[in-house]
Amino acid sequence: MFRTVRPSRVSNIHQQIRCQSTLPPSIKSLFKNPPDIDSKLTINGYIKSIRQLKKIAFLDLSDGSHHDNLLCVLSPDQINGLKTGQSIQLTGSWIKSKGKEQAYEFKILSGLDNVKLIGDVREDFPLQKKAHTLQYLRTLNTLRWRTSYLSSILRFRSFVDTKLHEFFQKENFFKTNPPIITGSDCEGAGELFQIESKSVLDDSKDQSPFFGKNAYLTVSTQLHLEVMSAALGNVWTLSPIFRAEASDTNRHLSEFWMLEGEMPYVEDVHQITRFTEKMIKHVVKELVNDADQAGTNLIKGNKYSEEAGSKSMTLQEKWNLLYENEWASITYKESLEILRASGKEFKHLVKYEDGLATEHEKWLAGEYFKSPVFVTDYPKEMKPFYMKENPDGETVACFDLLVPEVGEIIGGSLREHDLEKLTSTINERNMKIDELKWYLSLRENSTAPHGGFGLGFERLICYLANVENVRDVVPFPRSHEECSS
Ligand code: 4AD
Ligand code: MG
Repeated sequence: MFRTVRPSRVSNIHQQIRCQSTLPPSIKSLFKNPPDIDSKLTINGYIKSIRQLKKIAFLDLSDGSHHDNLLCVLSPDQINGLKTGQSIQLTGSWIKSKGKEQAYEFKILSGLDNVKLIGDVREDFPLQKKAHTLQYLRTLNTLRWRTSYLSSILRFRSFVDTKLHEFFQKENFFKTNPPIITGSDCEGAGELFQIESKSVLDDSKDQSPFFGKNAYLTVSTQLHLEVMSAALGNVWTLSPIFRAEASDTNRHLSEFWMLEGEMPYVEDVHQITRFTEKMIKHVVKELVNDADQAGTNLIKGNKYSEEAGSKSMTLQEKWNLLYENEWASITYKESLEILRASGKEFKHLVKYEDGLATEHEKWLAGEYFKSPVFVTDYPKEMKPFYMKENPDGETVACFDLLVPEVGEIIGGSLREHDLEKLTSTINERNMKIDELKWYLSLRENSTAPHGGFGLGFERLICYLANVENVRDVVPFPRSHEECSS
């Protein structure tokens, strides 16, 4: 027997779900949907700074949810014993601010009971008012994200992530979850981390590998994404990626996040370049509109160096420019001609067989085009086995997106969908064909032209937010000889 639920009861339940939050209010939620003036509330957070005058004291409260602190007004005896960094719980009333800097203040009710210390800090708590260098902050791996600037970068990162989700949703893509553990070296560059169970490592004599064969952390989810694209059409993922590159630069990590897209029935590489341009412009448009204040907060939070002041002025201009202009696209050969004609003395000589060095990439985008630029059709020897050969027999249908200050942020291509051609490339490169049998089987079952791309998520954040080092846009950077927490 089914019990009937009366419609009025259903709407009642919905209403209740909408109104009640089971969580304590965050400072962001209070700023966004301010309570009625004079309502009594209890708010949690940690102390950013304290100022004491004769008859009154002020405390800046943060909980990391918003760039702006909540200005709390207390009596001098209520701040006795309080210190920067402590987490506290305050009970007071929500009032209109008398100052011009913020719309609201939180006036703590009289009595010591209305100020509760939740968690104390050590004597040497390092995040005092003075600004530390980003380099020093990197040594404080559990505290650095509480600074205004770095926390605004993480909120910015979350904003960009959300906008990318929205973009793919709008474009009718499916988000998929390819594996992190893989048996194949997608890029063929040998930069793999091999994985093994501890018990096998401890006593390897008598035991076979855990997976019965070698297994690695993925360097790109592309091969598996191709399988999903053959089934679902347009697919994407944002996945952790692992590369054992020993290069200690400000744009390389051993663990980073890559956004990858794979699209069926694509026959021209410019269909993909234009799509990635649209994708980044979608994010930039949202930044320019700035309804969530992700951009404004980032700029407000950036107090790093004189330089940062002028740079942050240009963030808005940078986004405007990015959004307004169509990005140029040149071939690899054309890029070499431009570099040679510049007459500029680069540290790395401009040679056809050497590819583009980072300084060339930055110069092309930053100095010459003053905009992101696509470079297409690289020589096939420089690129992975799966890329589709062009009719010239010398280059492949691929592209890199180069941006000012960072260099390459996206790599993509058409994929070779012809079984014979792909097999012969694998053999020419002496790759282990047995390990790629599963991938080749895609070419035996209704194979079709397709292509895709991979975007380095940290590099995109660095570029959009004017951050110089990828270590400052990822919570726990892992790189060569760096994995301290
Ligand atoms: O150019 P890559 O190697 O392309 C691929 O892996 C393709 N299989 C992607 C695809 O077509 N699905 O890497 C893509 C991007 C680079 O352009 C760069 O932005 C970023 O990933 N990247 C790194 N980011 C941080 N640290 C590293 N060590 C990186 N290596 C690559
Ligand atoms: Mg690349």
